[in-house]
Amino acid sequence: MGKQLKVGDTVTLHGWINVRRDHGKIIFMDLRSSFGLLQCVFTPNEKDAYDIANAIRPEWVVEITGIIKERPENMKNHELEFGGIELEAKRIKIINEALPPPFNIDAAGHDISEDLRLMYRYLDLRRPRLHENILKRDRVLTFMRNYLHDSGFIEIETPILSKSTPEGARDYVVPYRKDPGRFYALPQSPQQYKQLLMVAGFEKYFQIARCMRDEDTRLDRQPEFTQVDMEMSFISRDDIMQTVEKMLTAFIKDLYPQKRIIESPWPHIQYASAMEKYKTDRPDLRKDASDQHELAFAWIVDFPLFESEKENGYYAPSHHMFTMPKEEDVPALDTNPHSVKSYQFDLVLNGNEVGGGGIRIHNRELQEKIFQLIGFTEEQKTSFGHMLTAFQYGAPPHGGIALGFDRLFMVLQNEPNIREIMAFPKTGEGEDPMMNAPAQISKAQLEELGIIVKKERK
Ligand code: AMO
Repeated sequence: MGKQLKVGDTVTLHGWINVRRDHGKIIFMDLRSSFGLLQCVFTPNEKDAYDIANAIRPEWVVEITGIIKERPENMKNHELEFGGIELEAKRIKIINEALPPPFNIDAAGHDISEDLRLMYRYLDLRRPRLHENILKRDRVLTFMRNYLHDSGFIEIETPILSKSTPEGARDYVVPYRKDPGRFYALPQSPQQYKQLLMVAGFEKYFQIARCMRDEDTRLDRQPEFTQVDMEMSFISRDDIMQTVEKMLTAFIKDLYPQKRIIESPWPHIQYASAMEKYKTDRPDLRKDASDQHELAFAWIVDFPLFESEKENGYYAPSHHMFTMPKEEDVPALDTNPHSVKSYQFDLVLNGNEVGGGGIRIHNRELQEKIFQLIGFTEEQKTSFGHMLTAFQYGAPPHGGIALGFDRLFMVLQNEPNIREIMAFPKTGEGEDPMMNAPAQISKAQLEELGIIVKKERK
């Protein structure tokens, strides 16, 4: 990790004991800390240090002082950053003892029960694979943040305490103490806010945004996840796709030089052709799926504006209700809504949907017509009234995209499960066994919030 350890220097280092190996009279210990792993050698010549070292067990926290020595040639480990050197220990201080960990943290850990791993996540995260994932996540997010800033985007935070959003999952809700019966909803995405920021005149917005959706957890889905969310004014669908394609190409070149994007520019596949040819709207276009270095991106375009007609004669939007119908298809909204295509697109990588976006409606009449086709009640229309109103105050044409950051990063890290690349994910049941969340709240809190809990459901 860039730490300078020069042969001949006397240094004092802090960290955890990774493993210890006793070789006759000599004790070897690997010290693990943010700079990596360093072998430390204790001999009976330094009696005090040697006696203490004898009592030390893995995962204890220590301070070791010694001299950096070059290892004998046949003892060098060229796979480790500091495999050519070792610390000849002179002094060691125990800073904190540790219980034996409940599982082995040296190995990959895939075979350990998930509940146990998440209960002791702070130990699980010491595992080199996970530790590396979290360090890399920081580098990747920093790259994107810098790249977008350098391209003229500004980062704006939008509220977490908000109102129901239209991404189609259930909302997580938060009771409002001052008026029992009213609730905030946690955002499923910053969709409405980012559109309103366009009306406010911020022409290039982005946010590393946390989104919450109450839906069943899967390998590629968490109740709480991160989007790299973007919105721009006065742009076309192709501008958005090109901006993202340029950014991801630059970042893969910089941070994943061993990976190869197998086709550039990325193919654009019409939704209808994808369904016909691949029977899915997220085809895996890799030539050799066993090659971990192949990256096959594709844009899926020209989605129908609506999913098939519902029994009640209304239509469900195939992305969300703010998506702009294709200009030439607008007349068909009155005659054959089912045939209308939209400016929505998805980004697919190796068979995973890693992003979605589109051009939005910025005109009140058209938005109202869509609400009508969706079958919105007056109450539902009112709840989006602020969008309709905002469109009357000089809304610019706009559009954007949200990258599902965790999914994208999971693929790049060759991980089979989104939970391996998040610091504190939820279990398959959507729970956090370490914090014991969700948890009951006290009677006094319930009272204050005006909530009565009914255990049985109808
Ligand atoms: P959408 O709902 O398609 O669009 O979400 C964008 C991307 O977010 C990722 N994603 C998830 N990742 C992990 N866990 C989940 N539960 C989860 N749900 C979605 C996917 C998906 O492609 N506001 C729009 C974007 C826009 O139109 O600009 C939106 O949220 O990779």
